[in-house]
Amino acid sequence: MAKVIKNGMVCSAERTWKADVLIEGEKITRIAEDLKGDEYIDAEGAYVIPGGIDPHTHFEMPFMGTTAAETFETGTWAAAVGGTTMIVDFCLPGPDGSIVNAINEWHRKSTPQICTDVGYHMAITGWNADIFAEMETAVQMGVNSFKHFMAYKGALMVEDDEMYESFKRCAELGALPMVHAENGDLVDLLQKKYLSEGISGPEAHSFSRPPEVEGEATNRAITIADAAGSQLYVVHVSCEQAHEAIRRARQKGMRVYGEPLVQYLVLDDSEYLNKDWDYAARRVMSPPFREKEHQKSLWAGLQAGSLQVVATDHCAFSTEQKRRGIDNFCLIPNGSHGVEERLAILWTEGVETGRLTPNEFVAMTSTNIAKILNIFPKKGAIVEGADADIVVWDPKISKTISQSNHHSILDYNIFEGRSVSAQSRYTLSRGETIWAWGMNSQPKPGRGKFIPRPAFPSAQKALSKWKNLNSHRSVSRDPMNIPAGV
Ligand code: URP
Ligand code: ZN
Ligand code: ZN
Repeated sequence: MAKVIKNGMVCSAERTWKADVLIEGEKITRIAEDLKGDEYIDAEGAYVIPGGIDPHTHFEMPFMGTTAAETFETGTWAAAVGGTTMIVDFCLPGPDGSIVNAINEWHRKSTPQICTDVGYHMAITGWNADIFAEMETAVQMGVNSFKHFMAYKGALMVEDDEMYESFKRCAELGALPMVHAENGDLVDLLQKKYLSEGISGPEAHSFSRPPEVEGEATNRAITIADAAGSQLYVVHVSCEQAHEAIRRARQKGMRVYGEPLVQYLVLDDSEYLNKDWDYAARRVMSPPFREKEHQKSLWAGLQAGSLQVVATDHCAFSTEQKRRGIDNFCLIPNGSHGVEERLAILWTEGVETGRLTPNEFVAMTSTNIAKILNIFPKKGAIVEGADADIVVWDPKISKTISQSNHHSILDYNIFEGRSVSAQSRYTLSRGETIWAWGMNSQPKPGRGKFIPRPAFPSAQKALSKWKNLNSHRSVSRDPMNIPAGV
């Protein structure tokens, strides 16, 4: 059956124009005026945009002695309601250390539950011959990005030499190394210092992770990527110090990408001073929210292109779970949420304020990350042949965010009471309307698909060629080793 999205303004990362969009099966098959079909979806007064891609979630992830509360069902459903049609979740190795087993475990958990499409990143939490070998299998299984935690000492943290080896392996395999950039040794020392001074509340979480600690680690990761000849994606960039390091690397010609979170753009560190322990603890995440000045830097980076992607790091813990750290801030499970709110907040605070154009909004919620993760234009694009992951984005539906109307499993919402001025009128995932505003849509767990992401083509060949030609220069400047256009 042919569906036509009628009378909307198609808005891509490049341009906005009036056109109908024809969908046959799971694909976009035509974009033109006055298209005919068997079924019509009204987009009058709305933008027709590629479905959002949130490249940073942790659903049901075992972490800090508990398991993130958001399930793959509730998380992907909340995403769909908010206009996101694909999430990329982080796999952690289990006790056996196998990354291949971890990917299979993530399939076991996610497959029966997902309402939208998903992909995975794999965490590298140590280094040995098995991990070296299994990384290739992981890439063959469709996982082409590997996250390295420079923090969480004694748990997930890796050392510089391990990162160097892993980044080199990523470059060989045509994969993307990612980093959680905070100096884990320093965080550990500062945590002990505040505890010994009797400062044990959520405010100490932010005291113990100052922006300098993030800036140093970001700079170090960039240096390691340069030496290893790899690209680099820096997740959850929260501050000017980290942004500055990314800016500088990009100016040198390095392929370094930065991902601020929507939380960092609108919430600041005064949240941790709230006298209500639960209120403050619900906002504990790493890196923490920063002073307002840092928000200006992040917005400027998105405007200038030195930061490319807005994500959420959706890692939701209930109030009860947060209370594990009632006597010691180091035990508060780190994580917050936003998969449902990301697009609406970015639109309201970015586009409505004039900071961003609608096309830039599309670029940083969908298109850029599709390119960075090597799934463009299957995802992240409104073009013929692409998956029909489409959102009819209505800039006239306003809403007050609240725990009482959200779709997350959480018993609170860190954006409670915030007004947003746009919502998804319809969310389509591979041609199926999975959410219609005001129509009592229900989740369909199990309909989502895992989207394998191919390795970057000829990375190995291009890299060695560049090495031979430019042995005196950094190989990470290799223009062949990256997706174009971001
Ligand atoms: O606090 C955070 N960010 N929790 C999730 C795990 C991570 O570091 O991404
Ligand atoms: Zn992280
Ligand atoms: Zn994360």
